[in-house]
Amino acid sequence: MQIKNICCIGAGYVGGPTMAVIALKCPHINVTVVDANPDKIKAWNGPLDKLPVYEPGLAEVVKEARGRNLFFSDDISGNIEKAEMIFMAVNTPTKTEGEGAGMAADLRYFEACAIDIAKFSKTDKIVIEKSTLPVRTAEKIKEILEENSKGIHFEILSNPEFLAEGTAIQDLFKSDRVLIGGDETQSGQKAVQALVDIYANWIPKEKILTTNVWSSELAKLASNAMLAQRISSINSLSVLCEKTGANIEELSTAIGMDHRIGPHFLKSSVGFGGSCFQKDILNLVYLCKFYGLEDVAEYWHQVVKINDYQKNRFAQKIIDFKLSEKKVLILGWAFKKDTNDTRESAAIYIANSLLKANINVSVYDPMVSEKQIRKDLELLNSNEKNYKLNIKVFENLNNALKENSIVAIVTEWDEFKRINYHLINPNIHIFDGRGIITKEITKYSIGLGND
Ligand SMILES: NC(=O)c1ccc[n+]([C@@H]2O[C@H](COP(=O)([O-])OP(=O)(O)OC[C@H]3O[C@@H](n4cnc5c(N)ncnc54)[C@H](O)[C@@H]3O)[C@@H](O)[C@H]2O)c1
Repeated sequence: MQIKNICCIGAGYVGGPTMAVIALKCPHINVTVVDANPDKIKAWNGPLDKLPVYEPGLAEVVKEARGRNLFFSDDISGNIEKAEMIFMAVNTPTKTEGEGAGMAADLRYFEACAIDIAKFSKTDKIVIEKSTLPVRTAEKIKEILEENSKGIHFEILSNPEFLAEGTAIQDLFKSDRVLIGGDETQSGQKAVQALVDIYANWIPKEKILTTNVWSSELAKLASNAMLAQRISSINSLSVLCEKTGANIEELSTAIGMDHRIGPHFLKSSVGFGGSCFQKDILNLVYLCKFYGLEDVAEYWHQVVKINDYQKNRFAQKIIDFKLSEKKVLILGWAFKKDTNDTRESAAIYIANSLLKANINVSVYDPMVSEKQIRKDLELLNSNEKNYKLNIKVFENLNNALKENSIVAIVTEWDEFKRINYHLINPNIHIFDGRGIITKEITKYSIGLGND
């Protein structure tokens, strides 16, 4: 099947970069990204240094493809109608109310997307799950599409996204693998082939893996759970190191040199953040519970519990630190370096714990706005009546360091590794990214394990 027009619903951290790269690599296909948020679309069409997603290399890709065969539009109905292939890349956060609240994935945005596709389609479509979803979601989507279909044939594929924020463009250019799940029917396999043909424009064939829909859906949740598990594993050992005099860096080097284990994701840190790991593991836990697998659910839940423990432990160390005038500067608000994404960032929880302990808190981050920092803390405390946020946000790092007595490095931005902290402020106390009070920053001491 020849694909000429692609529509992607959702212009966020996944939809924006993935479609920009598809457009760049497939100049013969028109790619239009639509979103229910018109401000976001306006920003995608605006200046390259103010795109809604900050990602190294993204602006260059958008510069080349935008207006050629890459478009951003708020015309959802028109672009659904025109496309032969539709990607659904909308958010799937953790449910906050109803059955499964606090654990299951909230599929309301995803289902709204499917309803739109059914409503506005006039010809057959290949519909692709790009969002991360519970296994067997395609079944539900099929129901929604068929209920409203007016005889149109929809073929549903799963094509989860494995990019990591901060390295998204690099990951999309050179993916470890592209995973495509489809029905084993003839029409299912034809749709799979149509998507394989798109990726084959730049991804070697042996890296394009095709499976059934359920394996593909579950593989994404399982990958994130395994990655996060490594971070929680090393973090659980960091506290034992502190008790026994073992050194966590030496431990992780020794463990990681075993080729069966490997060195990645073994840096001790304040804990993982980001919009995916926690929500995807909780989603997996919920799925296990749903299928009556309580022991399996508890096994994976522990990965999230250790992460919470690590964040609390970090904050408590600063709270317990004996100093007469404690003024804490949090360095970094993004959940990792090279992104402006702050969702589930450890910084939010640490700042909040310090503020609750009546500690004077300031923040500096090179890419996150004061507005976003305030919004994150206000959202976390939205249940509290008369919440008053007392925090100072700096735009200049030197001034920030001069005015504070403690610095807590929470994001591994490269600029934080290059500073001579004591030259700027001889009296400053440094808590590195592991929560260890340190004299100078080493290449190990502010890793978030997300390399
Ligand atoms: N962020 C990551 O690193 C990452 C990596 C891999 C997979 N994922 C998965 O990809 C999905 C998207 O994540 P994201 O980080 O891009 O989310 P995001 O919040 O950045 O973007 C989602 C976009 O969808 C839009 N939207 C929601 N409902 C809509 C609707 N009905 N119609 C049109 N637009 C709608 C929102 O306005 C928003 O702009 C999630 O399922 C996530 O788990 C994310």
